[in-house]
Amino acid sequence: MDYINPKLVLETADLEPGEITWKSPSNLAIVKYWGKYGDQLPKNPSISLTLENAFTQTTLFYRPKEVPGPDISLEFFFNEEPQPAFGEKVQKYLARLVPIFPFLSQLDLEIHSQNSFPHSAGIASSASSMSALALCLCSLEDQLFQTLSEDEAFDQKASFIARLGSGSACRSVYPYMAMWGQQSGVSGSSDLHAIPMEENIHEVYKTLHDDILIVSRKEKAVSSTTGHALMDQHPFAEARFNQAKQNTHFLMEALTNGDLETFGRIAENEALTLHALMMASNPGFFLIHPNTLTIIEKVRQFREETKHPVYFSLDAGPNLHLLYPESIIHDVRFLVETELTPLCEDGYYLPDWAGEGPEQL
Ligand code: PMV
Repeated sequence: MDYINPKLVLETADLEPGEITWKSPSNLAIVKYWGKYGDQLPKNPSISLTLENAFTQTTLFYRPKEVPGPDISLEFFFNEEPQPAFGEKVQKYLARLVPIFPFLSQLDLEIHSQNSFPHSAGIASSASSMSALALCLCSLEDQLFQTLSEDEAFDQKASFIARLGSGSACRSVYPYMAMWGQQSGVSGSSDLHAIPMEENIHEVYKTLHDDILIVSRKEKAVSSTTGHALMDQHPFAEARFNQAKQNTHFLMEALTNGDLETFGRIAENEALTLHALMMASNPGFFLIHPNTLTIIEKVRQFREETKHPVYFSLDAGPNLHLLYPESIIHDVRFLVETELTPLCEDGYYLPDWAGEGPEQL
């Protein structure tokens, strides 16, 4: 499946100008994608929680091109300000998509994007922004050619297109949880796009909380592209990819039967493994902060004392995701507000939770 389609060409120049808006969330990987091959294909399967509160809202304006030509004509605005640097990246991405969406080079495009979270919050925005854009592009195709009217085909193509922008973005198109990457025994699983997991998860995960504790607002010191590349020569690569497949297998069981303890054990094992892999890379690097470790100790101590099922995860940075079911929110928020936010930059945390997936506005 490559979606290359030379037929998606506009026959007429008297197309009405139009606009499409999508709001799409970020996601948190429970089993992590770390290491890729080919065109943004994952070396191991991953499973993520779709968030709700951390999202990107993107509007794509289109009209027939004033000056015909093969190039992509794009103006890009972030928070209503022109953003030429990011605009250039998006332009390159759209140019790569022309074999899939040939009509893109027949239009003047304008994209306006904004995030629900502050720019310098240390929250990665590539999953939400690339999925929002991919959804706009698929809606545009459907509006112009009526080719994606079936939800399943639409979502799958949006996931595929989002993946080409940022691997993890392909998981953001589905509600609650998504899986990306081929896994033996899981029918439909694919390296090319994510698949929905809503049907295979226990109710407890549909109201799961993920409070994002911002230990540092700084931009990531190491891009994920560099990080993935370090897995190419990593001495532990094969063991890691096998571990991820095993964790995926056991996580899927825990998702079906609502076993939060196994869920939490895998989430923490994956988070610590991700950072251990970075430290053991060549060159090795260190993305956690002393406060990250202090928070981890406090969370584990709280769990020990209260027996509450509260667990942590980490992305490729120092910020900590606190995962817990709705039933213990009062006790966990008390811990967050009294003991954990003092360890966050400016005391900032972003409350988030399992989300229902993207929405067209
Ligand atoms: O999608 P990328 O290339 O930004 O990589 C994301 C990598 C992690 O966030 C560390 C893990 C994941 O699966 O999202």
